[in-house]
Amino acid sequence: MSTAAVKTVKLYEDLILSLLRLPQVVRLHQPNNKIYIDNLQAFRDSLQLLWQMTPSLNIRIHRGRIYVNETRLSSTKNLAVAVTKLTEILEARQIFGFRFCKADNFTDEDIVQFFQDLVQSRSMPSPGDWLASRLEGKWVSPIQDSDFKISIVLSTDGTGKAKPIIWNAGIRTLALKAKKSYSRALAVLTNLNDKISVGENVNVSKPRRVVQDMVEGLFQNENLLLSLSTIRDYDDYTCTHSVNVAILSMCLGKRLGLSKIQIMVLGLSALFHDLGKVDIPIDLIRKTSKFTPEEYDEVKKHPLHSVLRILRINSDHALKSKLLVSPYEHHLGIDLGGYPSFERATPLTLYGRIVAIADHYDALTSSRSYRPVPISPEQALNIMLGIAGSQLDPLLLKVFVNMIGIYPIGTLVLLDSQEVAMVMETPSGAEQGRPNCVLLEFVDNNLESREVIDLSEKGDDGRFRRNILRCFHPSEFGLNPSDILLE
Ligand SMILES: [Fe+2]
Ligand SMILES: [Fe+2]
Repeated sequence: MSTAAVKTVKLYEDLILSLLRLPQVVRLHQPNNKIYIDNLQAFRDSLQLLWQMTPSLNIRIHRGRIYVNETRLSSTKNLAVAVTKLTEILEARQIFGFRFCKADNFTDEDIVQFFQDLVQSRSMPSPGDWLASRLEGKWVSPIQDSDFKISIVLSTDGTGKAKPIIWNAGIRTLALKAKKSYSRALAVLTNLNDKISVGENVNVSKPRRVVQDMVEGLFQNENLLLSLSTIRDYDDYTCTHSVNVAILSMCLGKRLGLSKIQIMVLGLSALFHDLGKVDIPIDLIRKTSKFTPEEYDEVKKHPLHSVLRILRINSDHALKSKLLVSPYEHHLGIDLGGYPSFERATPLTLYGRIVAIADHYDALTSSRSYRPVPISPEQALNIMLGIAGSQLDPLLLKVFVNMIGIYPIGTLVLLDSQEVAMVMETPSGAEQGRPNCVLLEFVDNNLESREVIDLSEKGDDGRFRRNILRCFHPSEFGLNPSDILLE
């Protein structure tokens, strides 16, 4: 931490400590007493120094930690005691903190008045409201709303990205390669979409090459590729979604023991599964409200459009015939319900069933125009388990759930050690499915990644060192896991 930052934190600490001391001091001492004078002076000095840096200071307790504005103060011995005291003061008044706004005319009498009011408020029927009315328009006011979201500002280095975790050199090279092939896949698919929407001829060779690259990456490190599938780009939903569905399908294919060639064909067909959406009016794709029956009929045509689009791609016939099937089948259930509806006696193909699972999972865990807050991976898997046997293949889904893990890559976890971490991977055979995580730390209001921890690690007493208290979706904090997990 820089010297300036250390000084600021020290000022915060001084302010909080004298804030906690003063109610007692004004109650017990006369204004001419030295303790009274010194404490008043200390409070006014630290407040005025801090106001020179920021005109509004919000001090609050959030989940057992003290925050000044959005900065969490790291726990020192002094502050550990302060948290307990401050929590008592706030809870007794049904408030969440104090807001100090810069004032020009600021006298010792004002400070004393505030602390007297603070002491008195405790015996009022609605202490928070009473205090708020007493302090209305003044330099200090109680914070009465509990709504506090830690605004995570990623550590910038001038790039706006989080500092990546320190990988060993081998993994680092693989991570770079994986991320490159993801962006290439995205670029190639966007380009292909643009070309077909204006009726230009397109060739299968480029998409095939990027998928081949991803297959190589998959066999080198499955987790890296899987963590790429957590990328979410709201502005370009269809392309990002298609690349994610391709990755998830390929990973599932590998778990099922398919060969590299088979996985390549599966990945390529998954990449093309929604290609026919270019033929659906854009207003319908972006619609936020429910479809009318006519509109839904229109949307339901996209698997067939995908098939027609693939037929027009320049490629050898043998490959093309293999690519058609899963785009056609991806909205059909294994009970043959869904769409496109038709008379059929043959069951769905393996690739069709795989892509349907990957498609469901990515669609559920993404934010969409009609559902801005995405469903958590855990909820998504539960929803999918509810339609296993009718829409989704139950056996394949079991393998998929195993692959995603109890704590999917990218999940933010709050630990009982009061640390926050992001799930990196779950080693196979991990005790109770306990993952390896990257510890995240707030430093100067920024989020930085720290060392990698293993949640199955035990202390000398034979107990787990850390346990997960709660899981959060990374998007709740505006985080893209791949920014943290991959450089
Ligand atoms: Fe679709
Ligand atoms: Fe889809």
